[in-house]
Amino acid sequence: MALNERKVAVVGCGFVGSASAFALMESGLFSEMVLIDVNKEKAEGEALDISHGLPFAKPVQIYAGDYRDAGDAAVVVVTAGAGQKPGETRLDLVKKNVGIFKSIIPEIAKYNTEGILLIVANPVDILTYAAAKLSGFPENRVFGSGTVLDTARLKYLLGEHLKIDSRSVHACIIGEHGDSEIAAWSSANVSGIPLNDFCEMRGHFEHEKSMKEIAENVKNSAYKIIEKKGATYYGIAMSVRRICEAIVRDEKSILPVSSIQHGEFGIDDVALSMPAIVGRSGVEGAVPIRLSDEEKKALKASADTLKEVLSGVL
Ligand SMILES: NC(=O)c1ccc[n+]([C@@H]2O[C@H](COP(=O)([O-])OP(=O)(O)OC[C@H]3O[C@@H](n4cnc5c(N)ncnc54)[C@H](O)[C@@H]3O)[C@@H](O)[C@H]2O)c1
Repeated sequence: MALNERKVAVVGCGFVGSASAFALMESGLFSEMVLIDVNKEKAEGEALDISHGLPFAKPVQIYAGDYRDAGDAAVVVVTAGAGQKPGETRLDLVKKNVGIFKSIIPEIAKYNTEGILLIVANPVDILTYAAAKLSGFPENRVFGSGTVLDTARLKYLLGEHLKIDSRSVHACIIGEHGDSEIAAWSSANVSGIPLNDFCEMRGHFEHEKSMKEIAENVKNSAYKIIEKKGATYYGIAMSVRRICEAIVRDEKSILPVSSIQHGEFGIDDVALSMPAIVGRSGVEGAVPIRLSDEEKKALKASADTLKEVLSGVL
């Protein structure tokens, strides 16, 4: 089926799927959006509710459907799966959600052969790898939201710390979207000024302590939010919107999405996040970010953690 470049499908209409659908409706990026959930009533309710915002946005045809309806979607966003319960890690979800993926990814691939699969459900790195294998799609067209959200959290916290616009902060989280993630401090800067220099300009001198606190805060954000309100969804919804924007507008934006690695930093055949060029073809190239020896070691350890989990489930 020929693709409709202005169509998106959202699979899974829980907290994350519905918030993402809402953000996508508001974005004006798409003219058609199909919502799919094993709970059809939920998908129908979300489609109606979100549609009622259209007089304040731009026209989009929004409806609940099935996998056949996703056949011509340029992007299929997969959020279906159980979320973390308080105290659970993302890796704890692995068996449940790989099971769900074994049923839904072949269904998507049966009807949609040309689109991009954007994986959001957790553990996102494991599920991105699983989706690539289960769909048989070329790897550039299967990637995960990865550490785009963690990177947003890092930029937000640095913006607050330095009292500047978080969009002027250039820093990223790489590796697993989870407990072994790494803040790539050695390449962090604010509008080209090395981070530590900028911190000193703003009256902060305890670099080691602040970096540790901020990285821990980023890593524990989801646990903290889940403890307080049961789930996280607005930050990821904005991340999904941003990634879709890079795809649909063929922006060639650099985003830390999760994709299968092939030898960079000695990491092979596992999906994790590294800055990549994202455009209409999906992941269009890796960005050879410079890392310190310590960061390289931590990245390798993150990859090893993920590989071990993978070997138990696929
Ligand atoms: N990548 C990220 O940064 C990020 C951030 C937040 C949450 N998440 C993950 O997103 C996922 C969804 O979280 P949530 O809070 O929306 O959960 P949720 O329980 O609110 O929603 C999950 C939805 O998936 C649906 N579903 C389950 N099995 C299905 C199937 N076989 N086919 C179709 N739909 C199915 C359920 O009916 C439900 O509506 C979780 O895995 C969560 O950990 C990822």
